[in-house]
Amino acid sequence: MNAAFPPLLYICIGLIWWLIALTIGLPLTVLLILCDKFRSSFFTWVYVNIAIPLHRKEVYFIRNKAFQVLKDSIGDKNSLLPLEILEIGVGHGPNLKFYPENCNLTVLDKNKYFEKDFTKNRNKYPQISYQRTVIQPAECMKGVDDNSFDVVVSTFFHCSCDDSAAVLQEVKRVLKPGGKYLFLDHTSFPEGDIGLLIQKFFNPLWSLIFDGCYLDRNPSKQINAAGFSDVQFQKHISLSFRSYLLRHQILGIATK
Ligand SMILES: C[S@@+](CC[C@H](N)C(=O)[O-])C[C@H]1O[C@@H](n2cnc3c(N)ncnc32)[C@H](O)[C@@H]1O
Repeated sequence: MNAAFPPLLYICIGLIWWLIALTIGLPLTVLLILCDKFRSSFFTWVYVNIAIPLHRKEVYFIRNKAFQVLKDSIGDKNSLLPLEILEIGVGHGPNLKFYPENCNLTVLDKNKYFEKDFTKNRNKYPQISYQRTVIQPAECMKGVDDNSFDVVVSTFFHCSCDDSAAVLQEVKRVLKPGGKYLFLDHTSFPEGDIGLLIQKFFNPLWSLIFDGCYLDRNPSKQINAAGFSDVQFQKHISLSFRSYLLRHQILGIATK
């Protein structure tokens, strides 16, 4: 396939998005701008019913890879004690199928509208010992104890959180010494790539529909600067045409 084809196609798609958002879609655009609650519940619906099914296969592959990396990093600690896991920005729980059996899972999200779908999803995995759901921003995890988790997980989270540096300090606080932080995120295209301009062109509408998600973020710097004792990145580039805007991803493990 001609290398110019995906950028050209996405410029056209972007123009169509903008045209619709400013004409027949204007009432929806205005509502998304003015009403935070509507935006959060609209995003929940779009994410669960459109975004996830659209990318099901390739995102499954990436998640599977991420949890394999976590498994390798934890090693064969044949502990009888369950693994204490916290997932931040859990959404409707698309990672549940990847959690090991012997674990206690606590989840956190700032968007309460995901809770119904999360509960439905969680009931499919009775082998996971589910502890509780905390509804609050991960920048300030009140009520979550220091040094209490073996593992913290976040997937496709930093793109939409307000303050990655603050979240990372909280992640470090709640991890036990030696605990692991698994992160997976889509990121910006490199500087100078036309893909970055296209991401910026989509950004204002994208962040309205996806409740504050920005396409051109990259939390690598903040993760490196957060003071973990070790950070290992694995680069994964999805080759799927459908996910052009999300094609650059970071995946890695940071150790407290
Ligand atoms: C794009 S969704 C990803 C959901 C899920 N982790 C996945 O991999 O599909 C981002 C999630 O992070 C949550 N989120 C974003 N910023 C947050 C914050 N500061 N604190 C807690 N949750 C946050 C959103 O509400 C949303 O559920």
